[in-house]
Amino acid sequence: MAVTRTFSIIKPDATRRNLTGAITKMLEEAGLRVVASKRIHMTRDQAEGFYAVHKKRPFFGELCDFMTSGPVVVQVLEGEDAVKRNRDVMGATNPADAAEGTIRKTFAEGIEANSVHGSDSEENAKIEIDFFFKPEEVVG
Ligand code: PPS
Repeated sequence: MAVTRTFSIIKPDATRRNLTGAITKMLEEAGLRVVASKRIHMTRDQAEGFYAVHKKRPFFGELCDFMTSGPVVVQVLEGEDAVKRNRDVMGATNPADAAEGTIRKTFAEGIEANSVHGSDSEENAKIEIDFFFKPEEVVG
């Protein structure tokens, strides 16, 4: 299996509860390596740009409000089949549907405050990594 990269966000509900380390530990235990990481407070423009694909969805405004409500930790993760590996350990979008042992089942507060984001394809991972990181900030 090829070593690939994916993009992750530890969301404001998780940074507020001081869960950055606990979530990163679960990612590492799932076989992912953090090759870039920074704590930022997303601007409204960044949130709207990052989630532009969801612009027409009814929750778009609330999602952008939430993602700018506190600090987030943006990360690049590397590992075998990284996109799927990350989504498996994240669990379903809605924590009510997430499997036992996943990050969202363990930590998420609801479908909005669901603790983590992860790219849904390798193509989107590249776009999302480039949105937040310069090439020299990613150190494999
Ligand atoms: S869905 O409905 O399951 O297809 O949603 P999905 O495409 O996975 O979700 C895209 C992102 O929107 C967030 N989301 C919501 N935010 C606020 N309110 C509601 N109702 C809601 N539904 C979905 C969801 O957490 C996803 O965020 P990211 O950061 O991409 O994980």
